[in-house]
Amino acid sequence: MTHGMFGRVGVIMGGTSAEREVSLRTGEGVAMALEERGHDVVRISYGAATRGIDELIRAANIDVAFLALHGRGGEDGCIQGLLELFGIPYTGSSVLASALAMDKLKAKELFRLHNVPTPPYYVAGESDLADLEDVHGSFGFPAIVKPRSEGSSVGLTKATTMSELQAGIELALAHDKHALVERFIKATEVHVGMLNGRVLGAIEVVPKSGLYDYRSKYTSGMTEYICPPRLPATRVRGVMNLAERAVRALGCTGACRVDLLVTEGENEYVLEVNTLPGMTPTSLLPKIAQSADIEYGALCEMILDSATLHNAKPMRESARPSSVVFVGQEESQPLGRRAAG
Ligand SMILES: Nc1ncnc2c1ncn2[C@@H]1O[C@H](COP(=O)(O)OP(=O)(O)O)[C@@H](O)[C@H]1O
Ligand SMILES: [Mg+2]
Repeated sequence: MTHGMFGRVGVIMGGTSAEREVSLRTGEGVAMALEERGHDVVRISYGAATRGIDELIRAANIDVAFLALHGRGGEDGCIQGLLELFGIPYTGSSVLASALAMDKLKAKELFRLHNVPTPPYYVAGESDLADLEDVHGSFGFPAIVKPRSEGSSVGLTKATTMSELQAGIELALAHDKHALVERFIKATEVHVGMLNGRVLGAIEVVPKSGLYDYRSKYTSGMTEYICPPRLPATRVRGVMNLAERAVRALGCTGACRVDLLVTEGENEYVLEVNTLPGMTPTSLLPKIAQSADIEYGALCEMILDSATLHNAKPMRESARPSSVVFVGQEESQPLGRRAAG
């Protein structure tokens, strides 16, 4: 296979976000699959108590980073920025695209700019709680309340009354400075898997509770997954097309998963783009890939293959050094050497 092509692969996992546990499972799954395929893998697991992630990455002496992180710090452009400075290619989207996708408000603003339909919404902060009736106005119920930048349905609730809305916003604000209040869309939920801007396939998600919340996501038996979705072929094509447009609107690359809602009428809405989707062997992206005859290990390798630096200045042929050395391989190299060169 591609044995040895990438050198030493660092699978970075754990982190300090609300999705730490999922990340550890993603990381272990990916690391094992890459090892089975003959790659030289080093697990880089970190948390609040470990030493700095920058030190860990430099000490690991890696040529490429496979990001198995989710949520804040790992999926939002922070780690991506560190790896850009180190000159270590990484999987997933660029600093900018990662940050935009993680920020549900900025993502929605871009969706609207690019005519990608997304549920109607408004933003609520601490100061809105005092006169919430006025703020909410004629927005109506039911509404979905979520933190501006979280994942895995952490802090997400459905509100059908003013007091539930109040409680929902308070909960969301415990996770973030802003809450997003969205129109609740009664719809079929479809997730589309993408790799390098192309659609891998789609899966229908049917949570028994009606809402794909944290429990539905991570308790086995709480959600049914149907692949391909039970929708007419033309509808599925429409959804896939919309997913492609959503990914393009934010500039995401590598592997992504787009969450969409498809109503019984004519409407389709994009909820969000996940730039580092769950990659445990039973996660949705691997399930979607499976339906396209791509095995878990092969998918991990395809994602690894897509690892790149995004911010590196293209060098003129004459200015290119005779041998390129990744900064991450030489611990003594100062930060930013690559950018300066
Ligand atoms: N506007 C909405 N209408 C109906 N259901 C929603 C809406 N927003 C979110 N949901 C439900 O909540 C889940 C999580 O929302 P999502 O926006 O994807 O955030 P997260 O980052 O937590 O996954 C969705 O998969 C869906 O089941
Ligand atoms: Mg989601």
